[in-house]
Amino acid sequence: MNNLMKILSLSKPIIQAPMAGGATTPTLAAAVSKEGGLGSLASGYLTPEMLEEQLIEMTHLTDRAFQVNLFVPKKEEVPSEQKIQKWKEIVPFADKAKPFPTMEEEWKDFYSKVALLVKHRVNVCSFTFDLPPEDAVNTLKAAGCYLLGTACSVEEAVLMEQRGMDAVILQGAEAGGHQGAFLPSTEPVALMPLLSKTVEHISIPVIAAGGISDRRRVQTALEQGAQCVQIGTAFLICEESSAHPVHKQQILSATGNHTRLTKVFSGKEARGIVNDWMEDHVDLEEETLPYPYLNTLTKPMRQEAANNSDPSHMSLWAGEGVDSLKKEMTVRELIRDLLEEE
Ligand SMILES: Cc1cc2nc3c(=O)[nH]c(=O)nc-3n(C[C@H](O)[C@H](O)[C@H](O)COP(=O)(O)O)c2cc1C
Repeated sequence: MNNLMKILSLSKPIIQAPMAGGATTPTLAAAVSKEGGLGSLASGYLTPEMLEEQLIEMTHLTDRAFQVNLFVPKKEEVPSEQKIQKWKEIVPFADKAKPFPTMEEEWKDFYSKVALLVKHRVNVCSFTFDLPPEDAVNTLKAAGCYLLGTACSVEEAVLMEQRGMDAVILQGAEAGGHQGAFLPSTEPVALMPLLSKTVEHISIPVIAAGGISDRRRVQTALEQGAQCVQIGTAFLICEESSAHPVHKQQILSATGNHTRLTKVFSGKEARGIVNDWMEDHVDLEEETLPYPYLNTLTKPMRQEAANNSDPSHMSLWAGEGVDSLKKEMTVRELIRDLLEEE
């Protein structure tokens, strides 16, 4: 048992990734924590009220530690009206989109969630999309919360350590969903080379994420210096996950090269199973509106597709590890498979 496992009271070096968008419910998170891993809630697309409901539900399901993930608001250049109009004409159902959130609203939402984590004595908080602000770090640390920051390069990992994170989640390019990179210079890179370089540059524990979906990849990440692995896609297809059945089925029938990074759903690079929306707009990859503008505009389209169980316009986030995922399992079976216990 390594330091990180001791601190988090884990018997397995497995963290279920927080996955915003509905898949990671208290049922899934609690099932993972009960198995000795770390379950996670994703607050990214929840209102503070919805997050509080989930936190209360967690107290009924488990007394084990779990993680709550927060999106750190990031200031992006405001796109021109002309560019917004162009995308409104491209995206189906864009007329049904909600107004773009202001930075003020995003920060209000962030700090309301920080206050909830303190109120409900959440043990572990992770951040993605940027360095968390110092006052939030101080507030959460004073409340005894263990802090994890997402990094996609050595430079970002060093900055996370300097910002006071207790551990770093190192996310490789293979990862399903959004890349948490926050420096403009960061290019997506494969997990293993990134991992061996990063452990030489920081002294806090490293959690490896990206494309890990079988025992071999778990072992390799641990041998390369990770103290735990954070796994998303493999938990997405578990019985306890609330991912859309079409999303699960697409993952089960995909192979590694069925996924790629794209910006045409949200404006931020994210890995998903290639579908019509991605293929039809490949020429516009470099001309997207920034996050969260495009994300806001495509939401009604994604919802409509999900309502019709139509994979062609859903964001089918999945990592490169899809090739080893062939059947739906329970959380217990998956964790056993990942560690190959008898
Ligand atoms: C559907 C989906 C949603 C995700 N949402 C989040 C999120 O809300 N916050 C976050 O930090 N990471 C999110 N991620 C990224 C995961 O934390 C993790 O880096 C990734 O799942 C690891 O790669 P894997 O899916 O190949 O295991 C998401 C991933 C997926 C597949």
